[in-house]
Amino acid sequence: MKDNYQRVIDYMRISITDRCNLRCKYCMPEDIAFLPHDTVMRYEEFLRLTKIFAKQGIRKIKVTGGEPLVRRGCVDFIRNLKAIDGIDNVTITTNGVLLEQYLYELLDAGIDAINISLDTLKRESYKAITGRDEFDRVWNGIKAAADSGVKVKINCVPIGNVNASEIPAFFELAKNNKIDVRFIEMMPIGHGKEFEAVSTEDILNELKKRYPGIYEIQEKKGNGPAIYYESQEFQGSIGVIGAVHKKFCDSCNRIRLTSEGFLKLCLYYSQGIDLKTPIRNGATDRELEAIIRKAIEEKPREHQFSCDIVNTLQNVCDGKSGNVEEI
Ligand code: GTP
Ligand code: 5AD
Ligand code: SF4
Repeated sequence: MKDNYQRVIDYMRISITDRCNLRCKYCMPEDIAFLPHDTVMRYEEFLRLTKIFAKQGIRKIKVTGGEPLVRRGCVDFIRNLKAIDGIDNVTITTNGVLLEQYLYELLDAGIDAINISLDTLKRESYKAITGRDEFDRVWNGIKAAADSGVKVKINCVPIGNVNASEIPAFFELAKNNKIDVRFIEMMPIGHGKEFEAVSTEDILNELKKRYPGIYEIQEKKGNGPAIYYESQEFQGSIGVIGAVHKKFCDSCNRIRLTSEGFLKLCLYYSQGIDLKTPIRNGATDRELEAIIRKAIEEKPREHQFSCDIVNTLQNVCDGKSGNVEEI
């Protein structure tokens, strides 16, 4: 399916829960009031919508949260997504705390790739960033996943004065393992506004200085906006997601479905299109299809983060709670 700017929309992120078992400083620093059970979309509702989206051209699904693995039934949901006609790629983005526990079930369900958020390689610093002492469990999950042969990517959000000094250690992780390490620019969303983002340009300069043989590859290693670098001496690769400084809106291929059943067309806009109400009011598939088609035609051209207002931007999100769902 194409939007009004001729972009092919074939990738949908589904946030299956707003809950998380970590309390990352830039995302969900304190306990927050989670959504009441009935407000959250049931798996059957997500599956019904995904079938309709697949008929409209969605081919790839990313299961996210919050933390998707905290929602009971996540693995079966993935298995059911994989069985939908037209869906040829189902991946997950997780914080890794429950990865070791669910890895073999995920593989059995047919997961195509696993992205794990990890901002530091030090246990103490992990505790400081995420509010929980879970580094060892996450690390074991990452190792087990990499050993299993499934595609593994690590997402690292570098922050000045917090973990930026570990960037070279993350380079080495990709050099010595078959793991892709991606650096994501901190986006000024919610609590992310309170932290100092490190630009992808600075990271790439450091990378090229340390490894002169590194080169940008043209091949895509997933469905997202990352640009990847490889070298003969690296087993894995380094990716950068210039979420703020490098706009990739022109080639945006994605839409999002939130845990409350809102279709979000761009992460900049907090308002989405409510699909849960029509579903629960008995809308037919045809009616839902019409709502979806109209919505996608109206997908905005680009987000409005701008480099010079990164630190002053207000109310991009609701600014008060976990925001990864918006990402
Ligand atoms: P793969 O390439 O398949 O691994 O997908 P992905 O990169 O979309 O997956 P992931 O869930 O790991 O997302 C990584 C990060 O990409 C997110 O945390 C965001 O920072 C960034 N990102 C994803 N989608 C968008 C988008 O539409 N706009 C912007 N600005 N950033 C995005
Ligand atoms: N800016 C950029 N990335 C963020 N993430 C969470 N909040 C932000 C933010 N404000 C990252 C997580 C995870 C990915 C899905 O999003 O660290 O790796
Ligand atoms: Fe949880 Fe991810 Fe937010 Fe951390 S960044 S609190 S792991 S949802």
